[in-house]
Amino acid sequence: MNPKSQETGGSRILLDMEGALTARDRVGIQDFVLLDAFTSESAFLDNLRKRFNENLIYTYIGTLLVSVNPYKELNIYTKKQMDIYMGVNFFELPPHLYALADNAYRTMIMESNNHFILISGESGAGKTEASKKILQFYAVSCPKTKLLDTVRDRLLLSNPVLEAFGNAKTLKNDNSSRFGKYMDIQFDHQGEAVGGHILSYLLEKSRVVHQNHGERNFHIFYQLMEGAEDEMLRWLGLVRDCQKYSYLVQGDCARVSSINDKNDWRTVRKALSVIDISEGEMEHLFGIIASVLHLGNMQFQTDYRGYATLNSNTELHWLSKLLGVPMQVLREGMTHRKIEARAEEVLSPFTVDHAVYARNALAKAIYGRTFTWLVNKINESLANKDSTRKTVIGLLDIYGFEVFNINSFEQFCINYCNEKLQQLFIQLTLKSEQEEYDMEGIEWEPVPFFNNKIICDLVEEKHHGIISVLDEECLRPGEASDLTFLTKLEEKMGSHPHFVTHKLADQKTRKTLQRGDFRLLHYAGEVTYCVVGFLDKNNDLLYRNIKDVMRQSKNSLVKHCFPAVEPDNKKRPETVATQFKSSLMGLTEILTSKEPWYVRCLKPNDAKQPGRFDDVLVRHQVKYLGLMEHLRVRRAGFAYRRRYEVFLQRYKALCPDTWPHWRGDPAEGVQMLVTHLGYRPDEYKMGRTKIFIRHPRTLFATEDAFETCKHELATRIQAKYKGYRVKGVFLKQKDAATKIESCWRALLARRERQRRAWAVKVIRRFIKGFMTRNQPVCRENTEYLTFIRQSYLTRLKENLPKNVLDRKSWLTPPPLLKETSRLLRQLHTRLLVRKYVRGITAQQKAQLQMKSVTSALFKGKKESYPQSVPKPFVSTRIREQDINAKILQTIRHERFKYAAPVVKYDRNGFRPRHRQLILTQAAVYLVEESRVKQRVEYGSLKGVSVSHLSDNFLVLHVTCDDLKQKGDVVLQCDSLFEVITKLSVEANKVSAIRVVKDSVRFDIHPDRVGYVDFNSGQESMVYRAKNGHLTVESVRPKY
Ligand SMILES: Nc1ncnc2c1ncn2[C@@H]1O[C@H](COP(=O)(O)OP(=O)(O)OP(=O)(O)O)[C@@H](O)[C@H]1O
Ligand SMILES: [Mg+2]
Repeated sequence: MNPKSQETGGSRILLDMEGALTARDRVGIQDFVLLDAFTSESAFLDNLRKRFNENLIYTYIGTLLVSVNPYKELNIYTKKQMDIYMGVNFFELPPHLYALADNAYRTMIMESNNHFILISGESGAGKTEASKKILQFYAVSCPKTKLLDTVRDRLLLSNPVLEAFGNAKTLKNDNSSRFGKYMDIQFDHQGEAVGGHILSYLLEKSRVVHQNHGERNFHIFYQLMEGAEDEMLRWLGLVRDCQKYSYLVQGDCARVSSINDKNDWRTVRKALSVIDISEGEMEHLFGIIASVLHLGNMQFQTDYRGYATLNSNTELHWLSKLLGVPMQVLREGMTHRKIEARAEEVLSPFTVDHAVYARNALAKAIYGRTFTWLVNKINESLANKDSTRKTVIGLLDIYGFEVFNINSFEQFCINYCNEKLQQLFIQLTLKSEQEEYDMEGIEWEPVPFFNNKIICDLVEEKHHGIISVLDEECLRPGEASDLTFLTKLEEKMGSHPHFVTHKLADQKTRKTLQRGDFRLLHYAGEVTYCVVGFLDKNNDLLYRNIKDVMRQSKNSLVKHCFPAVEPDNKKRPETVATQFKSSLMGLTEILTSKEPWYVRCLKPNDAKQPGRFDDVLVRHQVKYLGLMEHLRVRRAGFAYRRRYEVFLQRYKALCPDTWPHWRGDPAEGVQMLVTHLGYRPDEYKMGRTKIFIRHPRTLFATEDAFETCKHELATRIQAKYKGYRVKGVFLKQKDAATKIESCWRALLARRERQRRAWAVKVIRRFIKGFMTRNQPVCRENTEYLTFIRQSYLTRLKENLPKNVLDRKSWLTPPPLLKETSRLLRQLHTRLLVRKYVRGITAQQKAQLQMKSVTSALFKGKKESYPQSVPKPFVSTRIREQDINAKILQTIRHERFKYAAPVVKYDRNGFRPRHRQLILTQAAVYLVEESRVKQRVEYGSLKGVSVSHLSDNFLVLHVTCDDLKQKGDVVLQCDSLFEVITKLSVEANKVSAIRVVKDSVRFDIHPDRVGYVDFNSGQESMVYRAKNGHLTVESVRPKY
């Protein structure tokens, strides 16, 4: 299934509707070729009606597009729709004008040849709309460049301008083309629209001066009246009221509800400027339009001589201004004509009738020539100056076949034109069909059809045709009139099966004909023409002197329209019909050199109403447009044909051998496919490049099988696609991850490299610094030294000694920082000391003070002193409660200070006795249980001796005046330093403490002394030596 056909919105509904198998009954088939009852007009109409009722206005007959005018806006011309149809094969989507346009375009590009799209149908069938839609499609779908935007705009905007000047409301169509238009769109080899050219065919000029009831003049007049600014109207001498202008009121319908003249005016103004029409030219252009209206109001009256004179000067005044011709000259031109009499020119006055005729002729001429000028201007602006080869697509939108109650020369021309186009269509379709069968080597069965050549010949045959007869009558001297023309016709065409007049008709027909009528049996039906005016209109005479008047104009546009030298000035100009005939021959030539595409437009009803399908009317059109014949020709042999590649591409899924790809020859692939599908040999033929299928039902069966298979395939494809998408996403992510990873790694590696480079530099600097560390400070070692300094200080900071006594852990400084280290150490010690000092309590302070006294007494003097330092002093060694109550009673007045256990040595026998030593405020006591053994007042304490060794003896020297008193005391005490310090402080005898060497003499009583000798020995001993001395041996402490 083409992905484009899955678009959303209205198109999707449409596709679904047409695609569904069951919907076929309701919406009909989209190609008449597939119609089983292809010879039945009713079946044809049924199909058209079904589709029309579902708003499906397009149906194919092969590559021909049948379009039925919906008379309402359908949402099928959107940009989205255009996108859907771009680049898609003809039969893959529902029929559409865009499909045809796109296929023509693509074939043009592919085959580099020229094409044209012939849009035909009767008036109001939708030809102009179709041509506009095609143009819009090309404007959107072709490749774009900025430069080409202008060309595109001009191509698009040429339409409203030409429509304003060349279209009018008729009874058949509110926007009826009153001229034929063939527009070439030129494309370069890349398919870009690079230019264009327009050929216009016979404008219905008579409309300028006359409109039937219910019809209007050309749109531009009403647009000017409605849209132009007041000032402009004033300048043109107009008033904003159509009723005031006789050329606008004859149809009696200046206002039409389906037309917005004001808006159209704006569009036209804008379009004119886009197609390069200057402001000056625009002024002239509208001046001419206004002058036509003034001409229409020009009235004549008969003077006394029976000649025409002008009623008033008002119109003359404005005409003179707008056409740039002096009033007098104009007046003369409007009321006289020049006659050549024997090499002399004489002015002959007009009768009123003549004057009116001349006036109308001038109005038609001015308008007609201005229209031609406008077409030329547009062509100038569309012209592509580049001379490289272009291919073109021509769009032919011509006035449609029309029949009114009264038909005149214009209808004759228009219908003749349609007859010619029908002839061309017949030739081309039959030819191409036959060629196709020939080319493909398929047998061809001729199909009978009505060939309208006989009617064309009736009109155009040299010397015998109606046009020839008309020309003869126009040119012949003598009294030629419309009626003589009719008589001539009767003479010449009398027996022609397609020609009838009142005289020639049988009884029955005669009743439907007037005496001045002739009837042609056109391919599209009978049309009765009234001969009145045929000669005049064919001559289209403009009196020479009025032409001369125009040539004098100061208005450049008028001057341009009436050139000084007209071709074949003296020779009689070609008649209108002959000119038209020639131009149609030219057109036929142009078209036959190109590849044709057809759009056949049908009109569903005469009332211009949406949703109304008038069977009789449509049947008639189907008939005369030869659609049935066309269908029959298409179906003569085979209902359906398709190029092998295309057929295979669409249905290859139905055969395992051709799915998903067929690599070999497409014809073999198709053969394989149809064999697999079980086609019977008589159901199809294999041509050289195409398969031909005889019956629609064969194709339907294939199409139905495809429809079923499509869903299966869609699911499979969807699954595959989803897998593919997800895999794609995964691979993308993986790729991205790898990329990010490698980038990240690279980044890390770069950082690492930078880090290493930096490290190498640092190390190198470090080594250099190390090598030059002992040199004076220089560039090379500064950093190293700083580092050393820093690192030493940092380490030092983290390893500072925690107390003053720690003398070892101070970090050894590098030589550089020796002095710093010393100073820091000092500082640190001080800091520690201060910290310590701040932290000590009053008790500790007192203790330290004691210790410092001890230190002063013994430091460096007594061997055992250092060991005593860490031992703290206590307030007492014996608590008060452990002292006998009696003793406490005894010393109650002196305040207890300290007590310690001591050993007292008898002065005589040196026997050791355990005593308590108690210090009070006033004295030192030696106590045994409850008895005070000795009391020494501090006043009588002469001194205290200790040895310098490590023993713990002390001798208290006491003043001993009488024998009753006990003498010095020899004591041994464990807490020697504590006792002595407390005692010396308490007794205020610090200075009385002596450290003696070797021996201490002590008084036993005033007459007797004893000695204590101190020695160092292997072990501690106390004994009485032979010399009667108490000998104390102590062990020297080890440090
Ligand atoms: N495809 C369409 N969609 C909607 N409305 C349409 C379509 N085609 C035609 N019409 C309507 O029909 C009217 C007549 O169409 P159009 O002018 O194209 O007819 P025509 O064939 O050119 O007639 P003529 O031969 O008189 O110029 C349009 O003004 C428009 O209102
Ligand atoms: Mg038209």
